[in-house]
Formats: sequence, C-alpha cells, structure tokens
Amino acid sequence: MSSPADLAGRRLVLGLSGGIACYKAAEFARALVKAGATVQVVMTDAAREFITPVTMQALTGQPVWTSQWDTRAPAAMSHIDLSRQADAIVVAPASADFLAQLAQGRAGELLSLLCLARPRERCALLLAPAMNREMWSHPATQRNAAQVVADGALLLGPGHGAQACGETGDGRMLEPEELLADIVAAFQPKVLAGRRVLVTAGPTFEALDPVRGLTNRSSGKMGFAIARAAAEAGAQVQLVAGPVHLATPRGVARTDVMSARQMHEAVQAALAEGVRTDVFVATAAVADWRPAEVATQKIKKDGSGRVPAFEMTENPDILAAVARHDAARRPYCVGFAAESHDVVAHARAKRLRKGVPLIVANDGPATFGQDDNALVLVDEAGETPLPRADKLSLARTLVAEIARRLAPA
Ligand code: CTP
Repeated sequence: MSSPADLAGRRLVLGLSGGIACYKAAEFARALVKAGATVQVVMTDAAREFITPVTMQALTGQPVWTSQWDTRAPAAMSHIDLSRQADAIVVAPASADFLAQLAQGRAGELLSLLCLARPRERCALLLAPAMNREMWSHPATQRNAAQVVADGALLLGPGHGAQACGETGDGRMLEPEELLADIVAAFQPKVLAGRRVLVTAGPTFEALDPVRGLTNRSSGKMGFAIARAAAEAGAQVQLVAGPVHLATPRGVARTDVMSARQMHEAVQAALAEGVRTDVFVATAAVADWRPAEVATQKIKKDGSGRVPAFEMTENPDILAAVARHDAARRPYCVGFAAESHDVVAHARAKRLRKGVPLIVANDGPATFGQDDNALVLVDEAGETPLPRADKLSLARTLVAEIARRLAPA
C-alpha cells in the first residue's frame, strides 16, 4: 500500500555499479519516479556494460552522469553538485567491488567520489548489495559491509533466493518494490526505535460448521498500515491478523489466525515472550460472540422449513485482557472504536470500560474496506481529530502521537 506521493519532493541520486542486477535498476528507477522522486542516475563504467545510460535517462527524464570529468557541471565539480542537491544517494546494485571501494574511502569514479563527498548529516547513503552468494559471504565483503555501515551507510538487503549465476543463497538484490518500501521508510522519523509493537488487524471468523461462519467487513487495511508505520518508525513489529487479503508489510512478523480465541491466544503468546512489548494497538474487529457449538458436519436443511437456532457465547475481550496485565508487563494500550453513531461519546465510554489510555474512534460503516479514513483520538486530555487522509498517512500520524505518549524507554 504505497501512496503515489510517498517520495514527493525527494531528490535522489540513483547509483548503478556493475552487476547483472542492473536489469532491475530500470524498473526500480521507474518506481522511484512514480513515487514522486526526482531521480538523477550516476553509472559506473562496469554498470554501463550491463545497461545503457539511454534506458536510465528515458525512465528518469534526466541526463545520466558517468564521469567525474564531465564538463556539464558548473566549475566541473559534478561530485559536489550532485551530492549537495540530493536528499539521499541510493546505490542499486552495489557490487562487491563497489563496497570495497567505499570501505576504503576510494574515489576513482564519479559514483564512489560523490559517496565520499556527500554531506553525511543530511544526505543518507543507502546501498543495495547484489552479488553471488560466495562473494557476499566472503570475509572480505562481510568486513567491507560492516565498515560501510559503521561509516553511516544503510544496507538494503541483500535478499535470499535464486541467483542469476544459477546458485541459490544470500546476495541477490532486493526487488524494486522492496527497495522502494525501504527507501520510503528511511525517510520516516525513528520515533519508535528500539520499541516492540504488537498489532491486531482484520476481522475474526467464528465457525458455525465446516463451511459457514460469522465474520464482518473489516479489511484489515488500517491495522496493516499501522504495522507498516510502526516498522518504518524503527519498531520491531508483530502483527496478528484475522482472515484478510493483504501483503505483510516489510520487516513485520505476522501470525495468521481465524477466530477471536485464536487471536487472543496469539496476543497472549506474543506478550509472554521474554522481551517486553511497549505498545499494543488493537485494530481488529473482533467478533463479540461465537456459536456455542460448532457442528462437525455441514448443517443441512431438513425440508421441514424450520430455521436452525444458534446459541451464542461471548468471546474473550482481547484488548481489555491485555489492559488488565500488571503494570510491569502491560504495554501502552491503544484501542479502536468503530461506531455508527455518537462516535466520540461511545469512544470515551469504551476507553474507560476497557481501561486503556487511548482510543482511536472512527465511523465504522464509512471506513471498512476504504483506503482513507478520518479519526478522533480520545485520551485523558480530551479529543484530537485527525482529518480524513489515506490510511498510511493517518497511521504515521497515529504512530507519532503514540510515541509522544510513551514513557521514556
Ligand atoms: N476488542 C478486542 N476483543 C474483543 C472485542 C474488541 O480486543 N473481543 C478491541 C478491538 O480490537 C478494538 C476495541 O476493543 O480495539 C473496541 O472494539 P469494539 O468492537 O468497537 O468494541 P466492543 O467492546 O466490542 O463494543 P461494541 O461492539 O459494543 O461497540
């Protein structure tokens, strides 16, 4: 769920060093441009053996730079001009040789030169390694990778899987959409760095028989957006999801469940892990009741016209149970209130009933399944409206609001 304006106004240098993954750089450049970034491509000599500058120029709408001796730059200082204009330099692919050059602070080509010349405090350096698995696992490369990270660069990947050389292992460049998500995340403030966040999302499904059940129209989009925003903010995120059709946000650990009781157990298990969870955000639309008995066989019409009656029993209240944990183990609890009327009044009452510090209220019928939403935060201090926006933007604002309310780590 990447909104088109995710990189609006961002100026990026996209550097290509030599590797077969250059073929993915074309699609990656396109994705960056679609996300709103201005993309200035710089290629090494080796990269030009794999893909032409013409392709990269056509995709980015900007002339490509390949040499530090290019006389187009004012005062012939392309390494200074390019790095001063950029919000970040992204090198994808970053070859083993390129990492070695960076680790040593070498500046033999325009791309390594401008990485060295970049103003480190305001121009991030993001590197997407791409190489054969033996090259990646070689102690020299591992040493170089650790060195460039110690010098302030961020590594994106590498990924694991089948490689162009026919082998399988670590070293393949991340896919363009994964790189895009990581770059968008790199620009987000790290307000939850070092925190653990647990999120429930989606509906639950309460079985009646092997083929039927009770559920609701929650799509899970808001919860998934919150999980993503929390991960972007630097948190370690665990997502417990009911039955939904959504991709897991990058860097988020996901557990799939069906029923409210399974969701309850998954949440309790996550909280029972050795490390303390700092924040619990309950966005799931949990079924309040379930059929008291689940038929083991499909319930059939008997021809009499009689309608079956189902006895219902109450499900555990997952949020209220977490909020009842003793203070040492209790995360900061955030509940959602999907209401159809008197939204704020119901949210205020729900906050007290559930014993949680923050309730996020919204108009349930108007938001289920939609890509945007409007929220009202209800806490001890009063109400804070968050005007209608796409769910990811709202999730980022909500994450910032939660971070502000946390006790210092
Ligand atoms: N919730 C939960 N477990 C339940 C029911 C609700 O964890 N069994 C959580 C939801 O994830 C949400 C909050 O409690 O964060 C409020 O859910 P909601 O369905 O609006 O509240 P209910 O307590 O079910 O009240 P009602 O349906 O009467 O409005």
